[in-house]
Amino acid sequence: MNILVLSGDGIGPEVCDEAVSTLQVLAEKKGLEIHFSKDHAGGSAIDTYNDPMPDSVIEKAKASDAVLLGAVGGEKWDHLTGAMRPESGLLKIRKELGVFANLRPVAVTPALADASPLRPEAIAGTDMLVVRELTGGIYFGEPRGRSGEVGNETAFSTMVYSTAEIERVARVAFTWARRRGGRVCSVDKANVLVVSQLWRDVVTALHKAEFSDVELTHMYVDNAAMQLVVRPSQFDVILTGNLFGDILSDAAATLGGSLGLLPSASVGGPVGLFEPVHGSAPDIAGKGIANPVAMLLSTAMMMDELSQPEIAAAIRAGVNSALDAGLRTADLHREGKTTKVSTSEMAKHIREAALNALA
Ligand code: NAD
Ligand code: IPM
Ligand code: MN
Repeated sequence: MNILVLSGDGIGPEVCDEAVSTLQVLAEKKGLEIHFSKDHAGGSAIDTYNDPMPDSVIEKAKASDAVLLGAVGGEKWDHLTGAMRPESGLLKIRKELGVFANLRPVAVTPALADASPLRPEAIAGTDMLVVRELTGGIYFGEPRGRSGEVGNETAFSTMVYSTAEIERVARVAFTWARRRGGRVCSVDKANVLVVSQLWRDVVTALHKAEFSDVELTHMYVDNAAMQLVVRPSQFDVILTGNLFGDILSDAAATLGGSLGLLPSASVGGPVGLFEPVHGSAPDIAGKGIANPVAMLLSTAMMMDELSQPEIAAAIRAGVNSALDAGLRTADLHREGKTTKVSTSEMAKHIREAALNALA
């Protein structure tokens, strides 16, 4: 098995290194041969190659079985614009790999209920999957640009979706709903945006034609943002476009108390991309305090996707063991209630518990 590791910037390398060592020991125990190769992405690729995602890295990614990515971006590169930005490198690899469906699962376990910004009774039972369209919409739509004189400029981005783009991601959401709670809530802004009107029509038609056993509801995105923090347990699968999914999934992530918990899998092409939902967290980078859980759970999603469910389950068991034991990185620590640990201490516990679980 060949895994390309792009650890990126900020806390990316800190959490990626822990994920790789965890995977190494688990694979060894299972007698599975995993070959890791490393390369640069985002700011670190700008520093090395003067390009946030060189074609050489894309080629390596396409030739591997999966890509593990930490996070990209940071102040050092914030003056750059357009294709030179670290974030553009991330968009490029998503597009090149054709990973049009981004799966972001949010489950708030009882151990985490205490850390939630919501009351325990409001958070109880929260277990949802956000299916975010990832290679279309306003992130990629043309035309886009700026025109006019400085001081009197106009700028424009275009939110565009084709029937085929909507159908293929909706199919992923309906298929996941069948494996989970059997319900899809499609989130759009069809009361205003014509692109959302097509979104709603296509989702409705596909539901009728192929997935009438799944319950389908529609919700406007502003209401969805509100419902996520009022009664998150109502959701099973949320299906939405690129921009709305970006925003709603950060909100959903923090239901468990920290963005450092939420993993993701980007799928739909021949090679999947696995990355935590959080960014490079420049405010805490280099301090050894980042939460490695989102990265480790992304690694678990990768092992599921690569048909290694036992390793995936072991990683998840390791994470649960650490949380049940009261270990918390600074983002989740509560004085007098939990034990504060560093990134590496948290990961070490997870690794050892995962190894035991694999026995
Ligand atoms: P961010 O996700 O990096 O951080 C938001 C907040 O959450 C910060 O306070 C941070 O300390 C905290 N946080 C995030 N991950 C954490 C973790 N694992 N453990 C503990 N705390 C954690 O978002 P931002 O500050 O808006 O963006 C910073 C940079 O990251 C920007 O350059 C942005 O473009 C980039 N970014 C990259 C990705 C990605 O690579 N997938 C995602 C989001 C943002
Ligand atoms: C994410 C990030 C990215 C996005 C940025 C860094 C391009 O916020 O993965 O959620 O908006 O998709
Ligand atoms: Mn985001």
